[in-house]
Amino acid sequence: MSGLLDRRLLLVTGKGGVGKSTVAAALALRLASAGLRTLLCEVNADRRLGRMLGHPEVGSEVTPVEANLAMVDLEPDASMREYVLSKIPSQRVYRAVFENRLVRYFLRFIPALAETVMLGKVMWHLRQWPDAPGGFDRIVLDLPATGHALTLLGVPHSLVSALPSGPMSTEADWMLELLTDPVITSTVLVSLPEELPVNETLELAQALRSRLKVRIGAVVLNQSVQSRFGPGNLAALSGRPGLTALAQAYEEDARRTEGSVERLRAIDAPLVQLPRLVSPALGRAELEALGDVLAEGLR
Ligand SMILES: Nc1ncnc2c1ncn2[C@@H]1O[C@H](COP(=O)(O)OP(=O)(O)O)[C@@H](O)[C@H]1O
Ligand SMILES: [Mg+2]
Repeated sequence: MSGLLDRRLLLVTGKGGVGKSTVAAALALRLASAGLRTLLCEVNADRRLGRMLGHPEVGSEVTPVEANLAMVDLEPDASMREYVLSKIPSQRVYRAVFENRLVRYFLRFIPALAETVMLGKVMWHLRQWPDAPGGFDRIVLDLPATGHALTLLGVPHSLVSALPSGPMSTEADWMLELLTDPVITSTVLVSLPEELPVNETLELAQALRSRLKVRIGAVVLNQSVQSRFGPGNLAALSGRPGLTALAQAYEEDARRTEGSVERLRAIDAPLVQLPRLVSPALGRAELEALGDVLAEGLR
């Protein structure tokens, strides 16, 4: 298996709507079918992933859905609750304290508290690897869109620089170590063959490398279109304006794809192109096919 697929924590990120969830699901299916115990995490998401894979919706409990594959939707509130309950083992005390409106109001002012706890939870699952029963060989994290993802991944850095040494800073230290260890963690940047998403991908790559010190394992150009109609084909369509316009629009997309590939090469990471599929809704078969293209491109 490739460098990327050998990493234990795969963080899938990119602009909203580019295909992060699609890529995360395709990767997770591929890893699971290779016999690796895989956890696919969404972050406070719409829980579409379960349905895309042909399973019931999965909530904030880690739930096995098929051989070698479990899923979870990490919700800040649920993660927070789980974390606090692991420290004060009483639902009653939790309710009294954390479901108190005044307390909730003040908690909002602790920067990125929920994100910290959530990321800590992912990292905790990772730390269970590989010996503990129920541990995972791979964790695929379908991150929220770019800005929020950078905040989330920036949490361990901020904590390490802000906290005085003590038990909390020890936690932050190991989170930062896991996140920046290129043997353990890698990111997958998903983009589209359009100017703005490509700009954002280039900026994201810069921020991940220089600011967050996280490895970039692959750039995925999703919805790629390959040229099909040469001048000869277009000439053959003359007299059929509707078809000509369609073929020209298609060729325009193919040119945009080529231009995007050119620009994304600047990132200096393996680039994989996923085809634009025409099925009305992507289901399991499509995700498996995309997983094959990813695995092939990353070999
Ligand atoms: N390669 C593809 N071909 C066709 N449609 C795609 C492809 N990848 C994603 N889509 C569709 O694009 C939309 C956005 O994808 P999604 O994975 O939900 O993006 P994100 O998680 O980045 O917001 C979805 O409707 C999805 O089915
Ligand atoms: Mg998504």
